[in-house]
Amino acid sequence: MTLPDPNSLKNVAVIGAGTVGASWATFFLARGLDVAVWDPAPGFEGRVEAYVGRAWPTMERLGLSPGANIRRLVCHKTPEAAIAGAPFIQESAPEDVPIKRALYATLDRALRPDTVLASSSSGLLISELQKGFRNAPRMLIGHPFNPPHLIPLVEVVGGPDTEPAAIDFAIAVYKALGKPAVRLKREVTGHIANRLQSALWREAVHLITTGVASAEDVDTAIAYGPGLRWALMGQTLVWHLGGGDGGLQRMFEILGPAIQSWWDDLGAPDLTPEVKAIMVREAAGAAGGQPILEIAKRRDELLIGLIETLTRIRSELGPGKP
Ligand SMILES: NC(=O)c1ccc[n+]([C@@H]2O[C@H](COP(=O)([O-])OP(=O)(O)OC[C@H]3O[C@@H](n4cnc5c(N)ncnc54)[C@H](O)[C@@H]3O)[C@@H](O)[C@H]2O)c1
Repeated sequence: MTLPDPNSLKNVAVIGAGTVGASWATFFLARGLDVAVWDPAPGFEGRVEAYVGRAWPTMERLGLSPGANIRRLVCHKTPEAAIAGAPFIQESAPEDVPIKRALYATLDRALRPDTVLASSSSGLLISELQKGFRNAPRMLIGHPFNPPHLIPLVEVVGGPDTEPAAIDFAIAVYKALGKPAVRLKREVTGHIANRLQSALWREAVHLITTGVASAEDVDTAIAYGPGLRWALMGQTLVWHLGGGDGGLQRMFEILGPAIQSWWDDLGAPDLTPEVKAIMVREAAGAAGGQPILEIAKRRDELLIGLIETLTRIRSELGPGKP
C-alpha cells in the first residue's frame, strides 16, 4: 500500500456535514486545507457554510495555519465528486450501520488505492462497517470529541481488515494537523474516552440516586477538583506523581488498599425509568435555573479560553509532559 506523505496533505473530503461533519470541515479549513464536502440533505451547502462562518472568529482567535481560508470549502453534489483526489476522507454520516454501509458501498467503488477513509463513529465497530469492501484495508475509525474544531482528541482504531499502515497514516495526518491522536490496539465499543466518561458518570449516578450528594455537588467535586488536573493529564500519571519520587509503586504502598476498597464499593446502577427521572430532576437542579443555551454559551467561552491558555503556556514551557 502506497500512501501519500501525511505531513504535506493539501486537501481532504468531509462526507456527512451535520453537527460533527460541519465542525470537521471548520477544523480542516483552519489548518489550511482545501475541504470538499458532500451531504445528501437538501440545502446542506448553506448550513455548512453558516456553521463555518459562525465558528471562524473562534478559529482566528485560536490561530489559523498558513493559507487557511474559508473560501477553500467546496460543496459537491455527489460523494464521488467530493472524494475525487482526496487522500483522506472524514466520514460523519448518521450513527447507523445500514446507512454507513450503503454509503461505503458507493465510496468503495470510487476510492483510490491511496486514500484512507476515517469514520467519526462514536460507538460502531469498524469491523462491521468495513466487512466485504475492496478498500477495507484503508477503512478505520477516527473518532473525534465534539466539536472537533475545538476539542483536540481523536481516537483511531482499525478493524481486522485494516492495514496497520493506514492506521499509522491516519494518526500521522491528525498529529500533523495538531490533534493528539490515540491508537486503540483493538476495537472495543465506545472506544476509550466515552467508556471513561461513562464509568465516571455511572458512579456519579450511584452517588446521586443513593442520596450521597446532589448532582450539583457531584459536578462541583469533578470540575473544581480532579477535572482541573484531567485537563492536563490522565489518572495514571496523576497517581504516578501522587507517589512522589517513588511514583506509582510508592502510591500503591500508600493508597493501594484504599483504592481497592473504593473499587469494591462502587455502584453499578441501571438506567431504569426511576433513575432517569431522578437524574433529569437533578440535572435541572445542577443548572440552577439558568437556561441551557446560556450555560452552553458560557461553557464554550470558558473552553476556548482554557484551550488558548493551555496552548500559550505549553508553547512557553517547551516540549515535555504534561
Ligand atoms: N454528535 C456528537 O457529539 C458526536 C461526537 C463524536 C462523533 N460523532 C459521530 O459523528 C457521526 C455523525 O453524527 P452527528 O452528530 O454529526 O449527526 P447529525 O445527524 O448531526 O449529522 C449527520 C449528517 O449525515 C447526513 N447524512 C444522512 N445520510 C447520509 C448518507 N447516506 N451519507 C452521508 N451523510 C448522510 C445528514 O444529512 C446529516 O447532515 C456519527 O457517526 C456519530 O457517532 C458524533
